[in-house]
Amino acid sequence: MPVRLLVGALFGDEGKGKVAAYLSFLESPAYAVRTGAINAGHTVFHQGKEYKLRALPSGLVTHKGKGAVAPGALISVGVLKEEVEALGLSREQVLVDERTGIIEEEHVERERRDRHLSSKIGSTLTGVGAAMSDRVMRRLRLAKDFKDAIEKFATVTDVVSLLHDAVDSYKVVHVEGTQGFGLSLFHGTYPYVTSRDVTAGALLSEAGLAPSDVEDVILVTKAFVTRVGAGPLKGELSEEEVERRGLAEYGTVTGRPRRAAPLEENLDLLKRAARVNGATKLAITKVDVLFPKARGVTAWSDLPEEARLWISDIEKEVGVPVCYVGTGPEALETVGVC
Ligand code: IMP
Ligand code: MG
Repeated sequence: MPVRLLVGALFGDEGKGKVAAYLSFLESPAYAVRTGAINAGHTVFHQGKEYKLRALPSGLVTHKGKGAVAPGALISVGVLKEEVEALGLSREQVLVDERTGIIEEEHVERERRDRHLSSKIGSTLTGVGAAMSDRVMRRLRLAKDFKDAIEKFATVTDVVSLLHDAVDSYKVVHVEGTQGFGLSLFHGTYPYVTSRDVTAGALLSEAGLAPSDVEDVILVTKAFVTRVGAGPLKGELSEEEVERRGLAEYGTVTGRPRRAAPLEENLDLLKRAARVNGATKLAITKVDVLFPKARGVTAWSDLPEEARLWISDIEKEVGVPVCYVGTGPEALETVGVC
């Protein structure tokens, strides 16, 4: 079956963008599909350049094929336009489903005024939850209502039919998820979660694809756990310890410092994510942060022995093969194992 789903195992920022870009380079999919919304920022480095994507699929960075925005996604016209320009894509390469939800300034303002979201939850305040609630109340405007504005730089079309045409002719389709299992509206640490489910089932629903179309569910974890915003984090390290271990990171969308914890303290989350998503493959990113000698390595045999043992332990614990190991920020700084 031609569909691969890419989902996050933790609290987002696992490096899904990087893994998507690597897989897209390997497989040149007919379509890379973005789900989720613009609260999620995916950072990809390729050939020395940095890309920060909040609306377009990360796969487009390494394979300039066709990118699609799912009907269940929520984007803003402005963010989409900036990214199409930054990647130098043609109108024909960027397909937005007629039913994709559109976030407007009013949604952002509504979230900024919301004390519950800003103080308690630590929301990114990008208007996603407000737009999602408008969608549930059936008053959100969709891409087809902004056709004239969007069609200056992208194509508004029936993405779902195009994806099914591709699947029917056995063309590869990559569907990229956002955030991570711990932030799922249904399965995460509610109420400290985002405004949508982010598991494999939700990706299919958002893209309009069927479970029987799926070949692989690739679950992405980082070699350590980070979390921005409020909510529980097992084994959370002090700020000094985060610095000392070289785990300091800052949010792509908000610039906030990320809280951090060891992956070993969060294996229950990883295992549950593997089960609920039906993971067939595991990707572990930033292994070079724990094992500096792994930096830039692209062959399993070149990884330091201690890194290989650590990865094998995770694999045994989770019961899913580790197929991709991230060894540096560049998309192609990856060990492909299976
Ligand atoms: P919201 O989805 O923007 O309302 O944010 C709700 C919670 O999810 C907050 O804790 C955010 O920091 C977190 N969150 C939302 N999107 C992302 C993401 O892409 N990466 C990491 N955390 C996120
Ligand atoms: Mg991110």
